[in-house]
Amino acid sequence: MDLRRQHLIDPAVCIRCNSCQEACPVDAITHDANNYVVEFDTCTGCRACVSPCPTGAIDHWLLVDQPWSIADQFTWEDLPEPHPGHGGEIAPPAEVTQMLNVATTATGGRVPAPSSAAQPFTNVYSREAPVMARVAGNFRITAADAESDIRHVVLDFQHNAFPFLEGQNIGIIPPGQDAKGRPHNIRLYSIASPREGERPNHNNLALTVKRVTDGIGSNYVCDLQKGDPVLVAGPFGDSFLMPDDPNTNIIMICTGTGAAPFRAFTERRRRNHPDAPGKLMLFFGARRPAELPYFGPLSKLPKALIDVNLAFSREPDQPKTYVQDRLRQRADDVAQLLKSTLTHIYVCGLKGMEQGCEEAFADICRLSGLDWASLRATLRVEGRYHVETY
Ligand code: A2P
Repeated sequence: MDLRRQHLIDPAVCIRCNSCQEACPVDAITHDANNYVVEFDTCTGCRACVSPCPTGAIDHWLLVDQPWSIADQFTWEDLPEPHPGHGGEIAPPAEVTQMLNVATTATGGRVPAPSSAAQPFTNVYSREAPVMARVAGNFRITAADAESDIRHVVLDFQHNAFPFLEGQNIGIIPPGQDAKGRPHNIRLYSIASPREGERPNHNNLALTVKRVTDGIGSNYVCDLQKGDPVLVAGPFGDSFLMPDDPNTNIIMICTGTGAAPFRAFTERRRRNHPDAPGKLMLFFGARRPAELPYFGPLSKLPKALIDVNLAFSREPDQPKTYVQDRLRQRADDVAQLLKSTLTHIYVCGLKGMEQGCEEAFADICRLSGLDWASLRATLRVEGRYHVETY
């Protein structure tokens, strides 16, 4: 029998974030209101979509004699059981994965984790087999009169192991059903605590969640009360991880709740390497100070630990300032860091700032005799330039 390898997405785990469709260089991935699916004839198996997928739902490869059509895949609620005529799940040989990963890195696809990052656990819990956590606290971290309601929600895993690293995400499963009577999809949130937990060694972690009008997941999480049970999947993510070497310099650029992983990074350094030789440089954008999550605690961090640069876009009588403007204002210091092979860059937050940051880095490089295009390619291949925008 002539078996072929078919790439499929697990609809029970997929959180419909669109990262795979955006990453696919040949437009093999499409979606309807129900599922994200892969067109067999178009997919080249290049795996450019695998790394951006936060849940691992994308990474399924079946040996089939007759490929599933996208019409079939649109109807699925789970991956089908392999059956006679449709073979079992296979993984590509390790050397093929390695080759493909390197190849897609060079073209802007897969970015590996930093070389000094610890090995993450992923997918320990799933939508089908989640862990139950309890809410240990829920605090508003934007000012009482701010337009945005951003919350610091602490989850306690009690006696269940939930190993995670700075930069990983968790999935929350809102209770109830969607309009079609099916369980809700997983909602993904970045972890805002370092690996030992929000309170060290208490088996807990914090999330930074913004209430979105009509958002099923965000309203559920923002309304949680102390003691409430919450179903959690994950942890997810094996690329956007913090380098664990205290000699590394980390440039962190964010807006809004994009600050969550950087709070985790900063706390990791503050607790474990307060005198680290590596520099932390933060660029954080918000409309006004009242809208900036963690504004109070951030202002109190020692200058020797972190170089904080805030950008406010809607301050009365002030010019509109974005994170990329602040980057340009600090061009000399940023260029100094870009010249070091120990420097890592992380961007997290609004999709729109991605391009603005790229342009700012290109300008900074031009002024200091560096070539951003080649530096960027090197940074990505070496796992030193990570972008997570939405
Ligand atoms: P703006 O005042 O122009 O909306 P939000 O509060 O919507 O989450 O946005 C967080 C911050 O990010 C705001 O200051 C917002 O400015 C800013 N912002 C919006 N678009 C961009 C962009 N393309 N690049 C950088 N920052 C941006």
